[in-house]
Amino acid sequence: MNIRTIKKFLLASFIGALASTAASAQKFEELAQTPPMGWNSWNTFQTNIDEPLLKGMVDTYVSSGMKDAGYNYFVLDDGWMSMDRDKDGNLVADPKKFPNGMKAFADYVHSKGLKFGIYNCAGTKTCAGYPGTRGYEYQDARLYASWGVDYLKFDWCNTDGINAKEAYTTMSNAIKAAGRPMIFSLCEWGQHQPWLWAKDVGQLWRSTGDIWAGFDKNLSKGSWTALSVLTILDKQDSIRQYAGPGHWNDPDMLEVGNGMKYNEDKAHFSLWCMLAAPLMAGNDLRKMSDQTKTILTNKDAIAIDQDALGIEGFKYYAFDGLELFVKPLANNELAVCFLNRSSRPQNVSYDWKEHLISDAISKTNVDFNKANYKLHDVWSKKDIGTTDKTFKQTIGVNDVVLLRLTKQ
Ligand code: GLA
Repeated sequence: MNIRTIKKFLLASFIGALASTAASAQKFEELAQTPPMGWNSWNTFQTNIDEPLLKGMVDTYVSSGMKDAGYNYFVLDDGWMSMDRDKDGNLVADPKKFPNGMKAFADYVHSKGLKFGIYNCAGTKTCAGYPGTRGYEYQDARLYASWGVDYLKFDWCNTDGINAKEAYTTMSNAIKAAGRPMIFSLCEWGQHQPWLWAKDVGQLWRSTGDIWAGFDKNLSKGSWTALSVLTILDKQDSIRQYAGPGHWNDPDMLEVGNGMKYNEDKAHFSLWCMLAAPLMAGNDLRKMSDQTKTILTNKDAIAIDQDALGIEGFKYYAFDGLELFVKPLANNELAVCFLNRSSRPQNVSYDWKEHLISDAISKTNVDFNKANYKLHDVWSKKDIGTTDKTFKQTIGVNDVVLLRLTKQ
């Protein structure tokens, strides 16, 4: 190559590098190696949030044992802002709700050893009508970084004419440019198949529309439909191969403690753990019953969710309203969840040796004729035998048995 050709080559490579930076996001890679865990204000409070309420929630987060169980993000959803940006175009925390400003509240969250998250939207307005980020991506990201934000949930209302991949990539790049590591949570409800393009853009992406505290029935909200736990569950199997450390399918936040029956809450939590789902509690922690606390802080269930391999579990067997989910875990362990979604109690009689487990995605093959596994029941907290014997138990309607299998 002569000097001219070399110069041309260098210029072309430089332009190429610039173009690829603009087209693809460069997220903070080290975050969310296991599914994020935390609490979010939306499911219980919607936009009715303010500093005294939330400080109480932060205090209970710590005193209730949620923090000790592994939850560490405290996320404000929609409704924290004033209706207008200030004269410089900056977002402003609603002074009535947050009289000391958002930095002071973030400092309070951090002072308790928690991480702080906030919400905005890719559109011109948030879903509740507050100022959206469209056109202000870099300015908003810098503001969040100056407040000490560690997590940004980014919604998809009022986005007519906007390309989802581009909008989320722009915000991801803005976060990176602001320089403070933040988990970036995409919330476009799975409408543009984010599992196909968001791996380098954010750490989690919603896979469906909004959940509500209903186990098996959707709820019409007029212009949209809130989805039940089972409806959301059924949409996860086909996208499980896209989840893994640093990039998770998000089947929406938890409704544990928000009105379902105990067995339904337990089943919802177990299934979300099987899915390696982000575990964002959404109940009023100050009024949490002992039963709710027992579910949300069950260390064995959480360990299944947080397993280092980050493999999303899958439905492996279904018969007459009874379904069996399997999640391969590190060290050749397995989690198995029996779900009874039929309308009557089921007497389960399950001979492990009759069912080989074979999963091409995680390259898991288990033949219980060749290996014997100890069974630990996550909810009764008891060892209940091994896979050498047929598993027999009655499982109630909308209930689960969640087991951890360890090779003998
Ligand atoms: C959308 C999201 C919800 C919540 C609300 C806030 O519906 O999917 O999780 O953030 O907006 O307005």
